[in-house]
Amino acid sequence: MRVLVTGVKGQLGHDVMNELAKRGYEGIGVDVEEMDITDAEAVEKVMRKANADKVVHCAAWTAVDAAEDQEEICRKVNAQGTENIARMCKELDLPMIYLSTDYVFDGEGTRPWEPDDERHPLNVYGQTKYEGELAVEKYLDKYYIVRIAWVFGLNGKNFIKTMLNLAKTHDTLTVVNDQTGSPTYTYDLARLLVDMLETDKYGRYHATNEGLCTWYEFAKEIFRQAGVDVKVVPVSSEKFAAKAKRPHNSRMNKEKLSQMGFERLPAWQDALQRYLKEIQE
Ligand SMILES: NC(=O)c1ccc[n+]([C@@H]2O[C@H](COP(=O)([O-])OP(=O)(O)OC[C@H]3O[C@@H](n4cnc5c(N)ncnc54)[C@H](OP(=O)(O)O)[C@@H]3O)[C@@H](O)[C@H]2O)c1
Repeated sequence: MRVLVTGVKGQLGHDVMNELAKRGYEGIGVDVEEMDITDAEAVEKVMRKANADKVVHCAAWTAVDAAEDQEEICRKVNAQGTENIARMCKELDLPMIYLSTDYVFDGEGTRPWEPDDERHPLNVYGQTKYEGELAVEKYLDKYYIVRIAWVFGLNGKNFIKTMLNLAKTHDTLTVVNDQTGSPTYTYDLARLLVDMLETDKYGRYHATNEGLCTWYEFAKEIFRQAGVDVKVVPVSSEKFAAKAKRPHNSRMNKEKLSQMGFERLPAWQDALQRYLKEIQE
């Protein structure tokens, strides 16, 4: 199997390539230098040449707060870029995995979101990822929309790295305690995505590590496991000045993975332990 992977310099794309190689599949990794996804002609040229059997689309504009001021470019990448890829997948008859986000939901209530729940994004990033979902659904039948959240991987910026860096220069950190969700380790997710590529069980899925926490609880566990002595103070989202509004409830129901015969991801605390070891090495 030959798989075209976009966003290969990012957190997830990197691990998807590793997982493909581990299983003896051929990964063709591209990032903005090889294929700017906002450039429809470049997408067509690279995708025709790649001669892939399937596509895993990880590339995105992921700067959630910056997106509030740079809506146009964010939409160009997340919505138009995804449409460019979906259109070529249709033409070449390729199944596609599109990575999406818990931020397509508005975070009301406490019930875990189902994959087919109505989508009402609260911020520009979420809105453009939602538009990407719509593009995939418009052009393709053979697609997986896989919503993930609070992503951490070796390659790139994430909450764990930010916390560990801040702790080097601060005795006390304030972290929001009224947004509940589940972190996603790209190493574990890459295994699931390649499992999906081996099937034709298309559809919308939620896929994070198991278990729930708030960002505050996540931070506490990072420092506990890393053996870092820093005071963590819980605050409300209202008190923490972030540009983009974020959902309070990012609980996502992952039962569909089990129903469709997919192995779910391990607990987030276990993933964190392996990740801390990975970044030390
Ligand atoms: N990170 C999260 O917490 C999170 C949460 C939920 C869902 N997701 C989704 O999961 C997927 C993977 O996330 P990630 O954390 O691995 O993302 P990431 O680390 O930010 O990687 C995204 C990659 O896409 C590239 N890219 C940006 N604009 C591009 C363009 N015009 N053409 C081609 N490539 C472009 C980026 O390059 P530059 O770095 O040069 O811009 C980067 O290498 C994304 O679809 C994201 O929306 C992420």
